[in-house]
Order: sequence, then structure tokens, then C-alpha cells
Amino acid sequence: MNLRNLVIASLPHPDMYVREPSEAAFVSAHIGAAKGAGEGETIGVFDGDRLAAYGMLGLPSRHDPDNLGRLLGYGGSRLARVAHLASCMVALPYRGRHLQCSLLAARMQLAYARGREVCIAMVSPRNQASRSNLIREGLRSDWKGEIDGLQRELMAVDLTKRFGACPSGQG
Ligand SMILES: CC(C)(COP(=O)(O)OP(=O)(O)OC[C@H]1O[C@@H](n2cnc3c(N)ncnc32)[C@H](O)[C@@H]1OP(=O)(O)O)[C@@H](O)C(=O)NCCC(=O)NCCS
Repeated sequence: MNLRNLVIASLPHPDMYVREPSEAAFVSAHIGAAKGAGEGETIGVFDGDRLAAYGMLGLPSRHDPDNLGRLLGYGGSRLARVAHLASCMVALPYRGRHLQCSLLAARMQLAYARGREVCIAMVSPRNQASRSNLIREGLRSDWKGEIDGLQRELMAVDLTKRFGACPSGQG
């Protein structure tokens, strides 16, 4: 949460990343620490004891109203195979080392290991660094529109094309 506060405070435009209504609940949900508040896991990059960067993976259920697959027109069984490439932040002294790309690749592998077949990321069109890193890692634009009053783009990647049919897909 400290890393998030520092990074959010340093953004050149507030539209690039909007603070969550409850930062604590959002972080807890993505480190598997909260029951019933969504589900997810986070990969951290450490320099000694210091957190240099993190990438969050959201594992929504097919019934989750916030499952981004809904906006892409997915139905029930495909919704169950969606993972969200949720927030990724790199602390300022560690920028420019492609940590976002490494964290994207690591989260795609984690999503696949959890039985998910599609990864979806939401990005602000103003966030060129993030957008070009998503394209670099194989995601493609699938939807553009307004979410909560902000212009957003959804980018997706089909993991089965990368890793093959999902052996642990539970549907
Ligand atoms: C977006 C973000 C995660 C990318 O961090 P990163 O992995 O360190 O970025 P990269 O190493 O890919 O560098 C991005 C670009 O900045 C350049 N760069 C070089 N040194 C840099 C430095 N010290 N600081 C910032 N950028 C630098 C890189 O060369 C690269 O340019 P290129 O794409 O033309 O090669 C990071 O900027 C960040 O935390 N931003 C705020 C939060 C955010 O927007 N997250 C994404 C949405 S959740």
C-alpha cells in the first residue's frame, strides 16, 4: 500500500490510475487475504527487503459482475476462464528495467496454472508506457469505451495460443 501511495501520487495525470474506493480491501483481495472480497494473487519483485514492483492477478468467478469478459461478450464457461491482469506498479528508482514486461509474463503463466485461458487488462489510453508493454507481451486491443466515467481500453491475450489447451481448466 505504501508503494501504491507513492506511485499514484507521482502520476503525471490522475486519469492514468484511479485509487480504489478501499485500497486495503483491493490489496487484500489480490493477495488472497480476504474471504468473499474477490480473489487474486500478487507477484512481488524485491530488492533485499524492499518491494520494488508488483503485478496483481485477478481471478474472478463467472458470476462476478466485474468480470471484464462480460464487456467482450463472453458467455458462462468462457467467463470462468478469464483472469485479470490487474494493477502493476514499479517504484520510481526501479523503472526502465522492463519489470512490467517480466511481471506480465509471470502473471500469464500463473493464470494458466490456475486454469484460466484468457488474460484481460484494462488500460488508460493516456498510459502509453503500460499500453506498449502490453502489446509487447502479446495483448491486443479488444474493446474501447467508458468505464466509471473514464476512457478505457481492454486488451486481451488467448493463453491457449501461447501455452496450448489448458490442462487444469476447471470451467
Ligand atoms: C507503467 C510502469 C509499470 C512501467 O514500468 P517499467 O516496467 O519500469 O517500464 P519499462 O522498463 O518498460 O520502461 C518504460 C519506458 O520508459 C523508459 N525508461 C527508461 N528509463 C526509465 C526510468 N528511469 N524511468 C521511467 N522510464 C524509463 C524505458 O526505456 C521504456 O521506454 P521504451 O518502451 O521506449 O523502451 C511504470 O511506469 C509504473 O509503475 N507506472 C505507474 C503505474 C501504472 O501506470 N501502472 C500500469 C497500469 S496498472
